[in-house]
Amino acid sequence: MKFSFLNPTKIEFGQGQIASIKNNIPADSKVLVIYGGGSIKKNGVYEQVVAALAQHNWQEFSGVEPNPTAETLDKAVAIVKEQGIDFILAVGGGSVIDGSKYIAAAALYDGGAWDIMTGKHKVTKAVAIGAILTIPATGSESNGASVVTKAATHDKLAFMSPFVFPKFAVMDPEVMVTLPQRQLANGVVDAFVHVCEQYLTFPAGAMVQDGYAEALLKNLTVLAANFKHQDQAWRANLMWTANQALNGLIGAGVAQDWATHMIGHELTALYGVDHARSLAIIQPSLLRNQMEHKKAKLEQMGRNVFGLKQSDELAEQTIQAMEALYHSVDVATQLTEHGTDKNTAVEAILKQLTKHGLLKMGEHQAITLENSRVILEAAVA
Ligand code: NZQ
Ligand code: ZN
Repeated sequence: MKFSFLNPTKIEFGQGQIASIKNNIPADSKVLVIYGGGSIKKNGVYEQVVAALAQHNWQEFSGVEPNPTAETLDKAVAIVKEQGIDFILAVGGGSVIDGSKYIAAAALYDGGAWDIMTGKHKVTKAVAIGAILTIPATGSESNGASVVTKAATHDKLAFMSPFVFPKFAVMDPEVMVTLPQRQLANGVVDAFVHVCEQYLTFPAGAMVQDGYAEALLKNLTVLAANFKHQDQAWRANLMWTANQALNGLIGAGVAQDWATHMIGHELTALYGVDHARSLAIIQPSLLRNQMEHKKAKLEQMGRNVFGLKQSDELAEQTIQAMEALYHSVDVATQLTEHGTDKNTAVEAILKQLTKHGLLKMGEHQAITLENSRVILEAAVA
């Protein structure tokens, strides 16, 4: 095990914490408040932000879409540059926070902003960001990752940089009461798969990472089982669990495999599938395809998370338990939204994987294009 670990984001957790932004944003800042399609105007979040920023100099940019597009975000980049904005307050879910990271990095770069997503430009600085989280799922509120789509070409790409970690993240579970059940289910599934991507590789004897990953996975199975009985504690536990699932801790010093996300991103970019739903479609088939590499960890997960007994079928039973968990919150494990025949869809997805250079994925580089084809044959209806 060898790693550096720093998570610099200050967490402000609990009811009423939106007011804390007053003290967490420097008083002399020129602030741009960024939000999405307007859900924050229906649940009191916007009013709380306005009250907390009463003494600040601020303006706003709205309309960041789910799966944010560069086409929209570039308009905000221009505002940040023109107005000399030096603090960005992202108010929303992963889409708004990811979009704000792109804006923050692009505003301090003279070239084309898309260079950040292709890796042509390595980010060395960014405008300071703060986040008010309104949907628990991605962990974006306290990590250095951002996923942005170029709508014109269906390219959904990610970048990572230590410079775009939010300075603070406000997590008030009360804001979740207006979330549609579909989005809450997405949150449970996305967080579950985030843990899996850092856990389901091979045993490395990492007791802290494995033990904490298993605790988070067990939380999510309990939250899914109580999905119809949501209360304050349920919301708080989902918000904190989803955050911890992707704040860097459980992935430190261990092998990771983000192939489910990489293939899932192509489903979203091509067919508009919700992010979490794209993962539930790909993951079971991918795990079956990679069984020889992941068997030991699947068995460990079966025993320690689902309480299953050791047997020759344990790894397969663990995958079935995951499918059952997704189905229990009404998340499907087959792609039906492709609007064409199965063969055309599989070929279209493989073409995008090829375009994005995703020809060898997984902790053993064993998910070749041929294996992606096998995975998609099983995942696409
Ligand atoms: O736009 P508004 O009107 O705010 O509506 C949003 C949006 O339609 C709504 N919503 C959010 N909070 C609400 C609410 N509705 C009612 N009440 C509230 N309190 O929910 C919808 C979905 O929001 P979105 O931000 O898109 O969801 P999510 O947090 O799941 O983010 C998904 C994006 O994050 C990326 C995904 O690829 C996707 O683009 N990811 C980012 C990661 C990261 N930065 O680490 C990792 C993830 O794996 C993921 O790839
Ligand atoms: Zn995800």
